[in-house]
Amino acid sequence: MKHILKMMDLSRSDIFQILDLADQLKYEKQNGMEHKLLNGKSIGMIFDKASTRTRVSFETGAYQLGAQPLFLTASELQIGRGEPIQDTARVLSRYLDCLIIRTSKQKDVEDYVKYGSIPIINGLTDFSHPCQTLCDLMTIKEYFGNMEHLNVCFIGDGSNVCNSFIVGALTMNMNVRVATPKGYEPDKKVLEFASQFSNQFKLVNDPIQAIQDADVVMTDTWASMGYQDDIACRINDFKGFTINDELLSHAKEDVMVLHPLPAYRGQEISEEVFESHAKEIFENAENRLHIQKAILVLLLKDK
Ligand code: CP
Ligand code: NVA
Repeated sequence: MKHILKMMDLSRSDIFQILDLADQLKYEKQNGMEHKLLNGKSIGMIFDKASTRTRVSFETGAYQLGAQPLFLTASELQIGRGEPIQDTARVLSRYLDCLIIRTSKQKDVEDYVKYGSIPIINGLTDFSHPCQTLCDLMTIKEYFGNMEHLNVCFIGDGSNVCNSFIVGALTMNMNVRVATPKGYEPDKKVLEFASQFSNQFKLVNDPIQAIQDADVVMTDTWASMGYQDDIACRINDFKGFTINDELLSHAKEDVMVLHPLPAYRGQEISEEVFESHAKEIFENAENRLHIQKAILVLLLKDK
């Protein structure tokens, strides 16, 4: 593991390695044990989209590990005035030990790898959100004790979160059902990956079919960053896809509900479902911290 760019790059054993270390770091944090494993390292973060969880968990996580986080908005760097990634990546590789990028194009994150010489972490692109999925897997494993053969379903937009969740859950041997409205399906490359798991994967347009007997139900906003302008049209297209008590009654009784946040109550999830599953949703938000720290340690320790 040299970079974290997308879930398809990670094997089962890579994922277990990250989750095991995250568990250990969570235990140490909760028991007041210091773990300054990255003393003297500098971690840059170039974000050109908004963020609460990814930003704050990476920044505080880096601090807890003894490293220096530098939060850099793309608009304040010369990149905002046209300096190319080729040059930005080469320069920043000489100052920093790692870069976390949040941007629209997956190719831009990959270009930082191509031109730079330090580990690159994808902090969200339109295609993928691997840090979120690793965290979702950690929370699922904590809740159920293991992940094998659980029925997990994703209901909503075939977004970056959906793309990564499908790949992560299939890699960890879960049965994955996805329901999106027509025209909002996951990325083709993800469907191609999922086609290797024909018995474990099903994509439908009917949320009731997808949620049947689910152990875990996952969703995401109907309008990701950069796609909010057509929200009125999306609200219409996503009719019947709100995770509410009625829809959830088709899942298993002790179903876990996950949401990456921010949540739009009354759209992808009802207020009642959100609040009655707040415990696991916010435990999952906390786990972002432990996962980001594990990723940083695995990419940077002894480098
Ligand atoms: N889930 C997530 O990535 O949240 P932020 O956009 O707040 O970072
Ligand atoms: N799909 C959402 C995830 C936010 C964490 C977005 O890209 O805006």
